[in-house]
Amino acid sequence: MIDFAIRVAQDAGRLLRDRVGTTIDIGQKGTNIDLVTDVDLASERLIREAIASHYPRHQVLGEEGGLDESNSDYRWVVDPLDGTTNFAHGYPVFAVSIALEYKSETIIGVVYDPMRDELFAAEKGTGATLNHRPIRVSRTAELSRSLLSTGFPYDIRTSSLNNLDHWKNFAMNAQALRRIGSAALDLCYVAAGRFDGFWELNLGAWDSAAGALIVAEAGGQVTDFSGGPFSKYRPEILASNGLIHSQMIGVLALARPGA
Ligand code: IPD
Ligand code: CA
Ligand code: CA
Repeated sequence: MIDFAIRVAQDAGRLLRDRVGTTIDIGQKGTNIDLVTDVDLASERLIREAIASHYPRHQVLGEEGGLDESNSDYRWVVDPLDGTTNFAHGYPVFAVSIALEYKSETIIGVVYDPMRDELFAAEKGTGATLNHRPIRVSRTAELSRSLLSTGFPYDIRTSSLNNLDHWKNFAMNAQALRRIGSAALDLCYVAAGRFDGFWELNLGAWDSAAGALIVAEAGGQVTDFSGGPFSKYRPEILASNGLIHSQMIGVLALARPGA
């Protein structure tokens, strides 16, 4: 099934790449900063059709089409274009993210970046790879020497849980921060040792499912903001190389309600 997931992620990624520089139909979802393009929809269609023809009984949860009605122990969790805002502006940082759950546990994660031809993949219990070569998280042990990444929720203007306090606190404690605009790639970059840590609030399961498994299989740690178990269906994700994890929990605690 991982070979299938890789093939489909690469096919969808090629579809995205081929549309760079063409006319794109850009619409808005709930707010005027949450975009959806005809390319998101075409990519999800391609992925859903491939799953339906190979695994017709499996369930699919896709960002654009939601959860289908099939009843199966297998659920594909799909972000057909992670980094839509980047894509819509021609900023070449985006990816396809495909995960497979069996009985609620993620067993396969694949993230494909078509602009760099980088394929991140993991199968539960067998390690993580970048273009089929094993990857490991970084060895940075001090937050002050760490490069961290995050993102901001689409309700940033209306919610108090907008991540701005955490951003400020990490900016004062880490070496540097980045906001690359694709949570799936943020997580893969932690897995590959390019980032030492990543935190974000209010991601969808499709953003984090594949990347979280890839981090864990690369030797990293993935939890909620307090160090409790991570769930892709809950709002907090903290992923790191493990060595700086408790330091990151400490910084997140500075801005927790009631802290
Ligand atoms: C978004 C990206 C972004 C994150 C947002 C996500 P989309 O996904 O992953 O980095 O900050 O919260 O929704 O909308 O481009 O698929
Ligand atoms: Ca996404
Ligand atoms: Ca998306």
